[in-house]
Amino acid sequence: MQALALLLVAAPAIFGQEDLRAPGGGGGSTSGKPGGPSGPLDPADEARFQRGRALFERDFHRSSGLGSPEMNADSCRACHRDPVVGGAGALELNVSRFGRNGGGTLFQDLPGGQGLSKLRPPWVAGREEHGAEADVFEQRQTPSILGDGLIERIAVDAILAHEDPLDLDGDGIRGVARRVVIGLGTEIGRFGWKAQVPRLADFVRDALGGELGLTTSSDERGFALELDGDDRPDPEIDREAVADMAFFLAQLPAPRRTGSLEPEVLLGELVFERVGCVKCHVPELRGGNGPVPLYSDLLLHDVWPESFRGMSESGAGPGVYRTPPLWGIRTSAPYLHDGRASGLRAAILLHDGEARGVRKAFEALPITEKSALVAFLNDL
Ligand code: HEC
Ligand code: HEC
Repeated sequence: MQALALLLVAAPAIFGQEDLRAPGGGGGSTSGKPGGPSGPLDPADEARFQRGRALFERDFHRSSGLGSPEMNADSCRACHRDPVVGGAGALELNVSRFGRNGGGTLFQDLPGGQGLSKLRPPWVAGREEHGAEADVFEQRQTPSILGDGLIERIAVDAILAHEDPLDLDGDGIRGVARRVVIGLGTEIGRFGWKAQVPRLADFVRDALGGELGLTTSSDERGFALELDGDDRPDPEIDREAVADMAFFLAQLPAPRRTGSLEPEVLLGELVFERVGCVKCHVPELRGGNGPVPLYSDLLLHDVWPESFRGMSESGAGPGVYRTPPLWGIRTSAPYLHDGRASGLRAAILLHDGEARGVRKAFEALPITEKSALVAFLNDL
């Protein structure tokens, strides 16, 4: 499994003093407050949540092993922060993936993975020698993690029920689950723009290694950076800390609808259904504790024109992305995997490939219905 490491365009302070300030502004339960857990936790779990949050917010320092010695940032919060900790990130926090496209048929990762990190101490040689061979680049925008705990518990059969790999219903929309090889079996990928990661704990390991250059112990699932090039003993982050971070992320509440009863919003919801957005942005899937209103099927779709050049991974070729959940979409601009759409209307108009028919139906709408649809999205 290649790390998700990559090139960050803007640098937070990297080599400053480590910041160990208390998270959330000090004591007391943060349940129900922005950035707090989704519901009341017992004291042991509340403590675990706070430990996980402190790690997510911590500005790591080189004395704790930050950087391998490369990295993209010094904390998780540096990128996941809008509108609260755990949220999305702005365009200048995009990371880049790069590789060789092999004449369009034989895509190859570069040596050392797809990653290129820009943040590294000046005395460390870079990977420019490999960068020079790259002929495909793809930016990745920081998605929100809010509600991912609910997504983690969506039933596998609820996801598979929407697959239509051969387009048997003839609507031009296929949809396949991402199957990720873990050990000797496969699991359904749920997280990341290409649904490349099955579990939150996997993403915590992957991001600790790829984004911060911090090593973790292997859990035999293939996401940990186990050894790195700095002089700190590995693993730099222990198992319990990884579990605390995954627990913290899983407790973050899903974005809530504003609940507007404006006629325009209600009309927009009908239009969303009628033009076929719901074929991929499925309003809800069955979760561990009732329906999860995420507006995604969690499946992969090819939604770009044939000429699209981008990263390819086994099971998810260029132009193929997971339908992103639309809950909380009003706070997570800019949009699409690389953030190329600054507004919702622009994001809709860039849908192509499997979504071309639905986009055309949107384009053909009277102007009032187009605005109503956008008003509905802004309510999610
Ligand atoms: C440099 C910016 C950056 C930093 C720092 C960062 N992330 Fe991310 N994060 C991203 C990007 C970009 C993605 C999407 C990656 C992809 O799919 O290619 C992402 C995706 C995720 C996701 C999946 C969200 C979803 O629903 O698809 C999780 C979980 C996550 N990050 C956790 C973390 C944790 C934990 C840390 C700290 C150890 C961290 N991130 C640090 C940029 C960052
Ligand atoms: C064939 C499946 C499909 C259909 C139909 C579809 N979408 Fe999407 N949508 C996607 C995929 C896949 C992406 C991510 C593409 C990317 O990032 O490159 C996406 C992205 C988006 C985004 C940006 C989300 C973000 O977090 O950046 C919005 C908003 C959106 N779609 C709204 C709509 C609306 C409104 C409709 C109906 C007019 C629609 N979509 C129809 C699959 C679909």
